[in-house]
Amino acid sequence: MPLTPHADGVVARAPGKLYIAGEYAVVEPGHRAVLVAVNRFITLRITPCSPAGGYAGTIRSRLYDTGSRPWRHRPQDGVAEDVGCDDDYVISAIRVVEALVAEGGGRLGSFNLGISSELDEADGRKLGLGSSAAVTVATVRAVAGFYGLSLDDSRVYKLAMLASDAVQPIGSGGDIAASAVTGWVDYASPDRVWLRRARQRAQARDSTGDLLEADWPGLCLRRLPVPSVRLQVGWTGAPASTPALVAGVQAGSRGADDVYSSFLRASQDTLASLTTAIEDDDAGQVMSAITRNRVLLVQLGRISGRVIETPELTRLVEIALDHGATAKSSGAGGGDCGIALCPPATDLFALRAAWETAGIRPLDLSVYSQDSSAACAADVAEARADSLTASPVKVTP
Ligand code: PMV
Ligand code: MG
Repeated sequence: MPLTPHADGVVARAPGKLYIAGEYAVVEPGHRAVLVAVNRFITLRITPCSPAGGYAGTIRSRLYDTGSRPWRHRPQDGVAEDVGCDDDYVISAIRVVEALVAEGGGRLGSFNLGISSELDEADGRKLGLGSSAAVTVATVRAVAGFYGLSLDDSRVYKLAMLASDAVQPIGSGGDIAASAVTGWVDYASPDRVWLRRARQRAQARDSTGDLLEADWPGLCLRRLPVPSVRLQVGWTGAPASTPALVAGVQAGSRGADDVYSSFLRASQDTLASLTTAIEDDDAGQVMSAITRNRVLLVQLGRISGRVIETPELTRLVEIALDHGATAKSSGAGGGDCGIALCPPATDLFALRAAWETAGIRPLDLSVYSQDSSAACAADVAEARADSLTASPVKVTP
């Protein structure tokens, strides 16, 4: 039966992420990283509306200068587009989900979309928790829910990845994987040259559905068990630009092919040990893999002439080591956050106090897993409690 738009509102949310290990290497197809989803969210609310003045609805977000933007279905082909601005992650995600709906013979609807974020500081400063990925994943879930499409996490990842690749093709998609799968995630990035061609072909032939069912070369997407080491997160207060750092490191490594290849090999070996150690819940091995990955990233910074571990991040790591934990930069580095993994005996209070004294802000974050029944119940309750719409709200997933 063709899909039809919901008469009710839909609320979906997607968590932010942090890299645990494997950064930079994971940008290369088939190379692995471990990430976690964290308990801060982008929440997205869809309310059906009647099309007016040629617009299908508005997208409201405090991140837009104007607070809201109209969107519409292009008259010539019904494809969703922003009116008067460049397409962003939100419109791109609406577009890929609606492509799937239209391929199934469904009718496209009109809706307003409201976005709220807990992923940045109250003053709008960037923490590096992956808000672009979370907004893309939340939009995919909400729009799919609006059209009554039921998607598993791997299809949510694939649709969000297609949406994101159309806007910003440089990332590995690790942030999308963590936000879609949640918990501790073992990820290897797909071949994005293949993906770009496949995406363009799917657009031209109306075969997004087939691409969703295909095996993507290089891709691995797997939930890991939760290890007993505790995650602590420190924020340096300095925002860093991931695309600039990734481009800089790649450009800087050019001409040092051998060194770069050995970095990729060593990172891959380290990630294999890390995932095995997490599966065995072997705290000692988890910690030694993190230490090895830290050294590899510092070396990569050196060969490419870019600072991945800034002096603030080094301070964060050294304080964690003094407290019996292990630590490293998280993500592209250059600022943002560092992570510490702490064996059960660590005095977390003392570690956090020492960070604070050194100007590192401990963030109150924990790992978020979607399928823990308590978390799901909390999601539903929260979405209902803060619903502003008069009509009943359907929570997805
Ligand atoms: O700084 P973040 O959290 O956006 O992470 C970037 C991680 C890289 O591996 C350097 C890039 C990527 O897209 O995976
Ligand atoms: Mg970052």
